[in-house]
Parts: sequence; structure tokens; C-alpha cells
Amino acid sequence: MSHGVMVMVLIVYYSWQGHTEKVARALAERVGGRLARIEPVSEVGTLRKAMMATFGIRAAIRPTETDLSGVNFLIVATPVWAQKAPPYVNEYLSRVTNASGKPFSVLVEMGNSGAEKVVAIVRKSLEAKGMRFVSSATTLESDVDAGRFDRTVEEFARTIVEAAAPAA
Ligand SMILES: Cc1cc2nc3c(=O)[nH]c(=O)nc-3n(C[C@H](O)[C@H](O)[C@H](O)COP(=O)(O)O)c2cc1C
Repeated sequence: MSHGVMVMVLIVYYSWQGHTEKVARALAERVGGRLARIEPVSEVGTLRKAMMATFGIRAAIRPTETDLSGVNFLIVATPVWAQKAPPYVNEYLSRVTNASGKPFSVLVEMGNSGAEKVVAIVRKSLEAKGMRFVSSATTLESDVDAGRFDRTVEEFARTIVEAAAPAA
């Protein structure tokens, strides 16, 4: 991003199998954002993952950047689990502080369905903290595997750069 005023974009992501991470990294290059990984204290089995997501449960994560005092724009990148958000993402969202009035965007990575539901979950959580929703984008696992996600990232990045640019 090129403007006179420094805009601090934080891209926080959770990725179990690397797809969300790939997209988050590409996005960070585009918007000049800083990456922060949400790391579970312990990973559980796949069935348990789906169960925890289904019921909107939160699960312990390692310390990561949740105080947004120095952040001007937050991007949350997450996979879809059982049409919901992973428990570690739920935990991250619940811990966010000093977020009021700040803009955010959501990047959802999935096999084939559920992105809108996950966007709604993230929105509900962050809007309750006074944050302002800007945009969302979805990538498909098959496209990420094939390296076909540049255009999605580019278009998504544009919405963020436009919203983050200080008014002239
Ligand atoms: C427990 C679990 C549940 C999942 N549920 C869904 C789902 O409901 N809809 C979907 O499209 N993909 C679902 N997926 C597929 C993931 O969203 C997809 O594999 C994604 O690329 C994973 O991102 P990652 O590699 O960053 O972990 C699920 C994956 C796991 C492990």
C-alpha cells in the first residue's frame, strides 16, 4: 500500500492443512499486511473438530495478537468446518480487544460450501465489538491446490486497500 500515513493491516489466520495460510500469505503480499497465525494449544481429531465447530465451541489457542490498539484494519482468514468456524477462530474472535470503530474483512477457504455462514459468524462476533464490516472473499480448496486464486486475492485486496486508504 502506498500512502503517506502508515496503515497497519493485521491478517490473522487459522489453517490446519495449509490452504488458508497460502491464501493469507498471498493477500499479505498484496496489501502489505502483517500475518499472525492462530495456533491451537492442541489439535484434536477430525470428528471432534467437526463437532466443536458445529456447536460453536471455543478451544484454547496460544497467545497471539488480540489487542488491536496498534491495528487499523483486521482481516480474518479461516477455513469452513462443518458449515461453521473452527473452535480456535471462535476463541480468537472472543478475545479481540480495542477494536471499536475499526474496519475488518473476512477471507473464507472451503471445500465446497458454507462460506456465507462463516462470514456471518465472524461478522456477528466482531460487529458486537463495534467493528465495521468491509468485505469478504471465498476461495475453494481445489483452486488453491491448482494455484488458481490470484484473481480472487487481487479483487479482495482492492476492497481492503480502498477502504484502508485515508481520505485525501
Ligand atoms: C473438520 C472439517 C470440517 C470441514 N467442513 C467443511 C464444510 O462444511 N464445508 C466445506 O466446504 N469444507 C469443509 N471442510 C474442508 C475445509 O474447509 C478445506 O479443506 C480447507 O481447504 C481447509 O483449510 P486449511 O488447509 O487451511 O486447513 C472441512 C474440513 C475439516 C477438517
